[in-house]
Amino acid sequence: MNEEKSIMDIIADANKAVTTGIDSADIEHWVNIYIMGRGYKVPAGLTIMQAMEYAGYKFITAAGCRAGFCGACATVYRKEGSYQLKTAMACQTRVEDGMYLVQIPFAPAQEAFYDISKESYNAAMLLKHYPEVARCVACNTCTKACPQDLEVMDYIQAALRGDFEAVAELSFDCIMCGLCAIRCPAEITQFNVAQLARRMYGRYGMKEPEHITKRLAEMEKGNYDDDFKKLLAADIEELKKRYADRKREAD
Ligand code: SF4
Ligand code: SF4
Ligand code: FES
Repeated sequence: MNEEKSIMDIIADANKAVTTGIDSADIEHWVNIYIMGRGYKVPAGLTIMQAMEYAGYKFITAAGCRAGFCGACATVYRKEGSYQLKTAMACQTRVEDGMYLVQIPFAPAQEAFYDISKESYNAAMLLKHYPEVARCVACNTCTKACPQDLEVMDYIQAALRGDFEAVAELSFDCIMCGLCAIRCPAEITQFNVAQLARRMYGRYGMKEPEHITKRLAEMEKGNYDDDFKKLLAADIEELKKRYADRKREAD
């Protein structure tokens, strides 16, 4: 009953309805979690982010896309009875019984400033901007911390060799969450290193894609001018029809 609840519990209950819409009478399975050391009973099956909202927390920072893309919701936790510190994205990971959770603010990370048009395509330029890469002790902690299951240590080793193509390939799905960096004993900001390598590879390493070069030449010759004019003159219904009727690659 409300008379027995503290003001914070009343606010938390109000937040549950607003943020999750869950009615506790409908819940069969519950788990116990701890947020910043305080215990909560929350419905099983929620993500960490939903569970925190159910418990009454409101995300003002540390949340963005809620879909595993923006990297904002980095979380560390450990399980009851274990000393191991685990990492997760709060919007992508389901709560488990006995989780001790802490949201972390985004780790301020040293970021180099450079003009890639004035840089040489080799390992020396990367080490000039990120000399700490040479301190990598190959402990693999970064790989274990990565919620995207990327081979982070491998791409750092590739960066050290100046193999920017391999870095681009291995780090392609990085969401810049920072969890690798906060665990690195060599204080390397892996995601910034990878971003530099991807930029360098895009500028100097990748071959110009033939199909785009061909299409650009056709556009410059004016092959599509009439089609553009028709599109610009079309009304919304005509545009919808054209979109629905467009040719598509087979699934
Ligand atoms: S490489 Fe690092 S920053 Fe990128 S997703 Fe993995 S842990 Fe996050
Ligand atoms: S955590 Fe740091 S030192 Fe360890 S392998 Fe990764 S980059 Fe190297
Ligand atoms: S909120 Fe964007 S990755 Fe979780």
